[in-house]
Order: sequence, then C-alpha cells, then structure tokens
Amino acid sequence: MKPTLIVDLGDDRSYPIYIGSGILTDRELWTDISQNRHVAVVSNETVMPLYGDSLAQTLSRTPSAITIQDGEEYKTLATYSKLIAELLEQKLDRSSILIALGGGVVGDITGFVAASYYRGIPYVQVPTTLLAQVDSAVGGKTAINHARGKNLIGAFYQPTAVVIDVDTLASLPQSIYVEGLAEVIKYGVIADANFFEWLEENVEAVLRREPAALAFIIQRSCEIKAEVVAEDEQEQGRRAILNYGHTFGHAIENLSGYGELLHGEAVSIGMRLAAELSCKMNLVGHDVSERISKLLSMYGLPLHCGPIDVQQFREAMSKDKKVIDGQLRFILVREIGTVEVVDDVPEQLLNESLSESASV
Ligand code: NAD
Ligand code: GLY
Repeated sequence: MKPTLIVDLGDDRSYPIYIGSGILTDRELWTDISQNRHVAVVSNETVMPLYGDSLAQTLSRTPSAITIQDGEEYKTLATYSKLIAELLEQKLDRSSILIALGGGVVGDITGFVAASYYRGIPYVQVPTTLLAQVDSAVGGKTAINHARGKNLIGAFYQPTAVVIDVDTLASLPQSIYVEGLAEVIKYGVIADANFFEWLEENVEAVLRREPAALAFIIQRSCEIKAEVVAEDEQEQGRRAILNYGHTFGHAIENLSGYGELLHGEAVSIGMRLAAELSCKMNLVGHDVSERISKLLSMYGLPLHCGPIDVQQFREAMSKDKKVIDGQLRFILVREIGTVEVVDDVPEQLLNESLSESASV
C-alpha cells in the first residue's frame, strides 16, 4: 500500500502515515512493516479485546500481547516498569518492534517504552481515537505523567510508521469522538482557512462519522501536523502553534480536576479564550473570535467552564511545562488560518480575559 503521506524529517527517520478503511488487517502492509520480526502489541483492556485479535492474525508471526489498564491515571512510571518487565520476560530485543494499539495514553506510554527499552527500539503507532489519529500518534512526542504534572517524563522519539484505520472509530463513544474534533478544528484555525470553512459546511457529515468525511478530516489534520513537525521537530519555534488553546486548556483541566472535563473539551474552552484574548490585543476582530466559538458550538464542544478563580488560574497556567523562564506563551489568532506565538501579553489584558470568563 502506498503511504497516504510522509512525515519528512530530512533523514532516515522520516516515516509513512497510512490512512484507510480496513487497513488494520491488510497483510501486505503489515508484512512490509513488521518484516517477520518479533512484535509486541501493547494495548489496554478496552481496545485489546476489540482489535487485538484481528491485528495479531494479520501479522506473519504470532505477536506478544501486552495489556495495560485503561485510563490517564495509568500513564505512570509504575505501568512503564510493568511494560519493561513484560518485554524482558517475553525476550524482545533490539530487532523487535512494538505496536501501540489504542488512544493517546497507550501511544504515549508505548512510545516512551520504545524510546528507552534497550536504548531505543522501533515502534508503530496504530491510533484508535480521533484525537490520537489526528494528533498524538504523529510527531514523536512520547511521555508518562508524574505526580507533579502531566507528561513530565518523556522523549521526542519518532515512530517508524503510523497506521490509521478509520474503521476503528466506529466503536468510539460519541463524547470521545467529539473531543477529538476540537483538535481537528484547531488545525483549521492555525493553518488552513479553507479547511475551517469546510468544517463549517459539513457539520452533519462529520458528526455522523461518514467515511469520506472522516478520511478527509484525518488526512488534512495529519498533513498539517506533519508539515509543522517536519519544520520544527523539537518545538524550538513553530511547533508551538500546535498548542493553540492548550495553555488555557491545560490550566482548566488542572483546576477542574482531571476527569471532570475531557481534554478536548478543555482545549475547546481554551481556544475560545485565546481567540478572545487575540481580540483584546487588537490582532483580530470580534467577528473572527465569534466564528471560532460558533464552530466549536456547532460540534457540541463547550465554550465555558464553571467559575474560575483568576489567581488560581494564573498559577495553574504558570505550571505548564511550556512556560519558558517563567514567561507564559500564548498562541494568538491573526486571522482564520494564521496564528502567532506571543509571550508579552500585558498582565491586565490577561486578567481581564480570565475575569470575564470567571463571570460567565
Ligand atoms: P485515551 O487514550 O485515554 O482514550 C480515550 C478512551 O477511549 C479510553 O477509555 C480508551 O480505552 C478508549 N478507546 C480508545 N480507542 C477506542 C476505540 N476505537 N473504541 C472504543 N474505545 C476506545 O485518550 P486520548 O484522548 O486518545 O488521548 C489522550 C492522551 O493523549 C493524553 O494522555 C494526552 O497527554 C496525550 N496526547 C499526546 C500528544 C502527543 O503529541 N504525544 C498530543 C495530544 C494528547
Ligand atoms: N500536541 C502538540 C504537539 O505534538 O506538538
């Protein structure tokens, strides 16, 4: 099968992304990818029973299957240690391959295991949530959480391939599907006005998960992410635009207690706040921030959270690991399809934005 696109890193770490229907069980594709090597499929207790067998039967050699518990609370050093112990037990070595079958949690932890086991072994991402398909499986950020914060332990370590079977989204609960759409809308705002407009015009098809609509939004999102990552793999500059809505979003997630709001829901509220802050900074007119809020609402994403304590909010934002030298950075909107990184937002405007949000 021909790759749908390539993440071009300028060297032999460049890798293909395959997007299609039914490709989880495409023998030829998996023979190409696994080269008859020892494979360990890592998944969780929800996804392994759904797709583990079909994948195992498609591989030319019976894989080791390793199942972790389901949930962000298991993206920990303890789970990491168990995974390493299991790989040692199953005698995986440098010539072996890991396959991460699941959402972003499975992808992030498996990626970090791959980055560190035997000083690095290859891994393939097989994302099964929309968020993982359009975001976390592409770009090589791998991580586990620490009691002090999310994703504090990790590595940039690129997969050798990403295999996106859009059919796996059929089993995804609607709320988890919809939160992934927040990241899809993000790509329209940060990089592609035509894509944003397409999302405005095709709400029904996307919410119904029509195959053609799914294939299109996943491919366009991956293209944008691949292009940004190719330009700035380790987030020295432009890659930061992928964090649009996330500085506010992470603080909202943190303050509302993890699990209260889904990640994509917090990012949706964050995107609205960032767009409104862009208006306050006179970077853009209210028509643009209203258009962004309207699109998020049309997809059933929230724009507001409960009452916010401005001081606590500021503290939560300053704990974000993207803060550099104590300086908060915001991704602000110039127009639909264009954003910029701003790190000198006047204190007063930021406080105003947060207080207005606190009062809704
Ligand atoms: P998740 O992995 O927890 O998956 C959400 C839920 O959906 C889980 O219960 C999972 O078992 C279930 N699920 C997965 N696929 C399914 C399917 N096909 N059918 C039915 N249920 C299914 O959450 P997520 O939203 O995919 O990922 C969130 C994680 O991704 C966070 O840990 C976040 O930090 C990380 N992330 C990483 C990056 C990156 O660049 N590496 C980017 C964004 C987010
Ligand atoms: N999700 C942000 C990034 O990959 O850089």
